[in-house]
Amino acid sequence: MSLQGRVALVTGGGRGIGRGIALQLARAGADVAVADLLEANAEAVAGEVRALGRRSLAVRADVTSWDDAQRMVARTVTELGGLDIAVNNAGVLSIAPVAELSEEAFDRVMAVNVKGVFLSCKAELPAMQERGFGRIVNISSTAGKNGFPGLSAYCASKFAVIGFTNSLAKEVAQQGITVNAICPGIIGTDMWHGEHGLVEALRREGESAEQAWARSLAELIPQGVAQTPEDMGDLTVYFATAAHVTGQAFNVDGGLGL
Ligand SMILES: NC(=O)c1ccc[n+]([C@@H]2O[C@H](COP(=O)([O-])OP(=O)(O)OC[C@H]3O[C@@H](n4cnc5c(N)ncnc54)[C@H](O)[C@@H]3O)[C@@H](O)[C@H]2O)c1
Repeated sequence: MSLQGRVALVTGGGRGIGRGIALQLARAGADVAVADLLEANAEAVAGEVRALGRRSLAVRADVTSWDDAQRMVARTVTELGGLDIAVNNAGVLSIAPVAELSEEAFDRVMAVNVKGVFLSCKAELPAMQERGFGRIVNISSTAGKNGFPGLSAYCASKFAVIGFTNSLAKEVAQQGITVNAICPGIIGTDMWHGEHGLVEALRREGESAEQAWARSLAELIPQGVAQTPEDMGDLTVYFATAAHVTGQAFNVDGGLGL
């Protein structure tokens, strides 16, 4: 297996895309620490990683907290023996036209999606610099390259993740550390199907949630189908093995962002 002997950490790994990435990393041979705000979810995914024969660790961590970011890395290094691959995936969405978007909602999206990526990278880098090897993968979005009405805060945060990724990639380029971003298109997680998710926001009068979901896929994605968390895991495994790919923001979106 290509990642045998490597140790990975996935933030927001307790469900959705983070869970899919954690499991693909484990299938490729890595041991995986799962960090999430929701500890029970992190525990469940850590159990799934162990069931695949890899070592795992569940950490409750809020990526907007510097103390938590340091603790998730320290526990990974102490309990799993190092940190080779870090996937900064934790993210939140807010949906509202700018005139109705609250300052609080804007700040929350920026805190988790931008400051969270910064604090996670800041905490992860020393462990990688010490060994002269590291693979950082930040999760942006196709909304990090194109604006979408009603998603201004989210788009601003995901554009920021790409700028941050590209800058950090150049900063650590000669230290054996690569830094790339993944831009997912549409994946049927809580971000779409949850109580405050995109399906509810896009649903037209008289339309069921299922119909709104199918229409969104048909209208937005050239391939006409959703992507999967495992798709994001496959690209993460590639970035984790590629020595000379850095500073990229790669779409996995069925053609949405072409
Ligand atoms: N679902 C999509 O279509 C889609 C598309 C593009 C990008 N993304 C991005 O993918 C990432 C994962 O999204 P998802 O679809 O799996 O959503 P999700 O809501 O299912 O999962 C997000 C996870 O992050 C955790 N989290 C939230 N705030 C946190 C915090 N402060 N600290 C630690 N963990 C926190 C949640 O508990 C949850 O487990 C996000 O960055 C999202 O913006 C998703």
